[in-house]
Amino acid sequence: MKKTNIVLVGFMGTGKSAAGRAVSRRLEHPFIDMDAMIEERTKRRISEIFAKDGEGAFRALERDLVKELSQRRDLVIAAGGGIVLNPDNVRDFSETGVVICLKASPAAILSRVEAQTHRPLLQTAGDKSQRILDLLKERQPLYDAIPNQVDTTRLSPSDVADRVIEFYEQENGSGEF
Ligand code: S3P
Repeated sequence: MKKTNIVLVGFMGTGKSAAGRAVSRRLEHPFIDMDAMIEERTKRRISEIFAKDGEGAFRALERDLVKELSQRRDLVIAAGGGIVLNPDNVRDFSETGVVICLKASPAAILSRVEAQTHRPLLQTAGDKSQRILDLLKERQPLYDAIPNQVDTTRLSPSDVADRVIEFYEQENGSGEF
């Protein structure tokens, strides 16, 4: 089956949403930000879901959305950073889409997320930079297992979009858009 979706995965602050929007504009395919869609549908902030119902409840909402989106076609999807924690998510997305992992140096991640307060996993007490290193250490093998990788440390969203579209064309053959 042709893989018509593009799914951007990767740690928080690796630029999934910015690159996803750029790819969506270029290909004229709809853009879906999973976190935003969960917030719209539940009418709650992600941080509130984590605080009141716990991380497990959020992961269940995320899992249901992966199942739904992987049935659709021609989407550009920015997945939440924790999507790789459940291998079923990566498997389902890979069936109908080209999955691409964005990565960045811990310093670049820190500078991008430092001033933001909406990510519950980074709002814990203590040093944000150490928290990023700890989470990255835990998750690195899961991100590394994805064959298509783009290092966004020194790239603009538009440069990242170029690389992403290259992976998509490699998979599907170019000249079909
Ligand atoms: C998470 C990443 C967030 C969001 C939630 C959990 C994670 O998405 O889904 O806060 O577990 O890495 P972004 O990667 O878009 O920040």
